[in-house]
Amino acid sequence: MTKSVLIIDFGSQYTHLIGRKIRELGIYAEINPPKYLNNITNILNHSVLILSGGPESVLNKNSPKIDIPLNKIPIPILGICYGFQYIANEFGGIIQKSNQREYGKTIIKIGKSDFFEGTNEEQQVWMSHGDSLKEIPKGFKVLSKTKNMVPAAIFKKNIYAIQFHCEVTHTEFGTKILENFLFKICKLKHNWRNHDLHQTIGKYFKINVKEKKPNIVCAVSGGVDSTVLAFSISKYINLENVHFIFVNNGLLRKYDVKNIKNIFKSFNLKLNIINAEHLFLKKLKNITDPEQKRKIIGGLFIDVFSKYIRKLEQKDFYLAQGTLYTDIIESMSFHGGKSVTIKSHHNVGGLPKDLKFEVIEPFRELFKDEIRRLGLFYKLDEKFINRHPFPGPGLGIRCIGKVNKQRLDTLKDIDEIFINFLIKRNLYNKSWQAFAVLLPVKSVGVMGDERTYEETCVLRCINSVDGMTADVSNIDINVLAEVATLIINKVTKVNKVLYDITSKPPSTIEWE
Ligand code: XMP
Repeated sequence: MTKSVLIIDFGSQYTHLIGRKIRELGIYAEINPPKYLNNITNILNHSVLILSGGPESVLNKNSPKIDIPLNKIPIPILGICYGFQYIANEFGGIIQKSNQREYGKTIIKIGKSDFFEGTNEEQQVWMSHGDSLKEIPKGFKVLSKTKNMVPAAIFKKNIYAIQFHCEVTHTEFGTKILENFLFKICKLKHNWRNHDLHQTIGKYFKINVKEKKPNIVCAVSGGVDSTVLAFSISKYINLENVHFIFVNNGLLRKYDVKNIKNIFKSFNLKLNIINAEHLFLKKLKNITDPEQKRKIIGGLFIDVFSKYIRKLEQKDFYLAQGTLYTDIIESMSFHGGKSVTIKSHHNVGGLPKDLKFEVIEPFRELFKDEIRRLGLFYKLDEKFINRHPFPGPGLGIRCIGKVNKQRLDTLKDIDEIFINFLIKRNLYNKSWQAFAVLLPVKSVGVMGDERTYEETCVLRCINSVDGMTADVSNIDINVLAEVATLIINKVTKVNKVLYDITSKPPSTIEWE
């Protein structure tokens, strides 16, 4: 049997990135909650143990723990962030409690070691921790320190621990460090190929859908994930009892509805369209709180969708959702570890109890770029596949303040101008996501001889690899000024254009 790398999830927002990075390096990795190691025999199925980061302090009585003492674990261990402190604490190091979290880019210095081989003497890493290590445990050696001389990496025999997150892109040599650990130190051999992805999805359907002609209802949002999902279903499932349903909530961009109709038509797949724009606008009238908006949009989607399903008279059915790992991680902890709610994502919401269904989410453990590769494998148009992500609640959460038809139309116009401009300038495919936001902030302007008093729009364009962290796209100020002029000249309801220059964290990508 091929042994996998075991990642214990202590609740960090980045745990899944560790799994994905390891898979990218050609080694199979799986994530489990701390309780998985209640039983020592479970460790025997694995070649390496990785302890993830997490939001808690190891000094708290109820912080997550594993039952097995680390010195009884017969395989190499790597602790990351919380995992670093967990290892230090268990082996008698002294952890200093802190109420303040340090996060962001930090420079570390390294000594010579296999662990850091092929990386720079001084390098940038990404830190996100509260407590810090005051005294290293006995028998451990320091491999790296921060510029302030705080230990950033320690080891003893085959137990390694790093205070920084090697799994995020902001850590300059993160992948190299992981590669060194797995191949040089643990001597693992490749056992996973990335193009196994479509077979993995096929296996998922085989295990989770037993019937020959299953009743499947699949909500299509117009975005890449649910469209690729529909195509996966069409590859592996007899479509006789499959319903692809698209709810038009009026919160989509100008071109979305047309696009999705054309794609389904060109592949001969039937798409059932429900027009519910008026309902959404009615319910959103005068609502300004972001969470309330998300809940209303999510709730109404569920209402409209369930009404439609009831009409289909499907008794027991499967509900297929294109939920990705990033969609759920910020709403709940993925593998039972602890994490904190940041925004509710409507596509994880529940349907009424009287509908009997089983949820199938073949992409639940996957990232956007993995879905894109799958889409290309299914021969979906590259332009569509490379479209930027678009949130479930749509323009509802980009129209800050009140959501009404007039403001939505203004936002749709701005978005169209901005996106077309980026495409023309060859900037669209260079960024992860670009969009416009409308603010309910009015300012005075002058157009010709006229005084104007209109709202403000914000343009946001970011670089990211998975949406978990993001940097601002560095667009030339003159180019930005050009698009700003285009917008002000064409859209009468705005008279100021701003560019958002915050990264994630501390900001999020969307505004609400
Ligand atoms: P945030 O704003 O949380 O966004 O930094 C991370 C990524 O997720 C997208 N996003 C959503 N996607 N349903 C979705 O399917 C949602 O409710 C939702 N909210 C945010 C966001 O556009 C970005 O790509």
